[in-house]
Amino acid sequence: MKKSYYCKRLNETLNFDALKVFYCCATRTGPSIDVPEPKHVKDIIKKRNFLIKQLDHGQIPHECEGCFDLKEKEHQEYGGFKFFTKMPKANLIIVKHFKQCDCACIYCCEQYLSKRKIVLKPQKSDYYDLLPIIKELYKQNIIDKKELDVHFQGGNISVLDEFEPLLNTFMENGVKRVEIATNGIQYLPQIAQIANRTFVDVNISIDSGCRETFRKIKTVDKFDDVVENLKKYVKLPILLRLKYILVRGVNDSIDELTKYIDLMQEIGIKNSELMIDQCDNEFIQNGEFKIPDYYYELFKFYKEKCAQAGIEANIWDYIKKILDKGSFFK
Ligand SMILES: C[S@@+](CC[C@H](N)C(=O)[O-])C[C@H]1O[C@@H](n2cnc3c(N)ncnc32)[C@H](O)[C@@H]1O
Ligand code: SF4
Ligand code: SF4
Repeated sequence: MKKSYYCKRLNETLNFDALKVFYCCATRTGPSIDVPEPKHVKDIIKKRNFLIKQLDHGQIPHECEGCFDLKEKEHQEYGGFKFFTKMPKANLIIVKHFKQCDCACIYCCEQYLSKRKIVLKPQKSDYYDLLPIIKELYKQNIIDKKELDVHFQGGNISVLDEFEPLLNTFMENGVKRVEIATNGIQYLPQIAQIANRTFVDVNISIDSGCRETFRKIKTVDKFDDVVENLKKYVKLPILLRLKYILVRGVNDSIDELTKYIDLMQEIGIKNSELMIDQCDNEFIQNGEFKIPDYYYELFKFYKEKCAQAGIEANIWDYIKKILDKGSFFK
């Protein structure tokens, strides 16, 4: 029988980055199209349809070769479709078409585009306007109105002038879940406005538990502002997650992690994430991204101390895999 493939991510995702639209999640470099003018939204749709049909015909785009998310159709585990009758609608939209930010984290992988310039007031994306594209995608019936999950990433959404109109457009069309990643420096009143109307997941990258370490990592002296904003967010009916990226030689110690966990306990935050800086070039030895031995102690301590404090200590699966392998590239 002729082989036929599908990919759940390809069927579901439109990931708007600065220079390209990816048909894949933000952690992989899947197939993409250079960002066309909004008036050429049809090009985004045309390429998406082409890729889905290509897989259905058993041809694998080179960006997808060897990807573990690629499935043979016979083993299809969810919502099947026949491309001749109906294309799947996109139900995950990732908004990261801007890189401007009101801080400049020393680890940030997006900063190579914004050149570490700190922006304080909302402004247009340096790349393109997304709102007309989203409106056209709704008009063309490409977005799944019942199941849509929107992730705001970036850059920092507090300095994007399109944030509110984009959010309003998604809300008007019945978005099911809104995820906002932010540094927490500026309070976003929009979060309280939508909190009772849809599921809202707010993920704040604080990376520290005190003012001095915050300033070293985020390069702005805004720790107290973040703490004040967290105290407001914690009262809302949202999923509030605090995030800590281990940055070598800056916050990668038991003392610093202790301050972070104590801070969560003090504010009443129940959900936390611990990650590894993926851009730390000093880890690279013989082309591999080695994890230092003491990181295993830090993860163990984090899990135990969070458990004592009644905080959910999340470690993403891909971080667990990296820790198991001992490096990023093996
Ligand atoms: C680029 S930021 C954009 C959203 C927002 N400004 C923030 O900081 O949450 C999205 C996520 O990428 C993470 N990130 C950025 N650089 C990273 C790195 N070098 N290693 C691991 N995660 C990183 C941030 O911690 C953040 O959670
Ligand atoms: S097969 Fe892999 S690389 Fe290709 S779109 Fe799916 S998840 Fe992305
Ligand atoms: S707050 Fe987010 S976008 Fe801004 S520099 Fe830090 S990680 Fe990058």
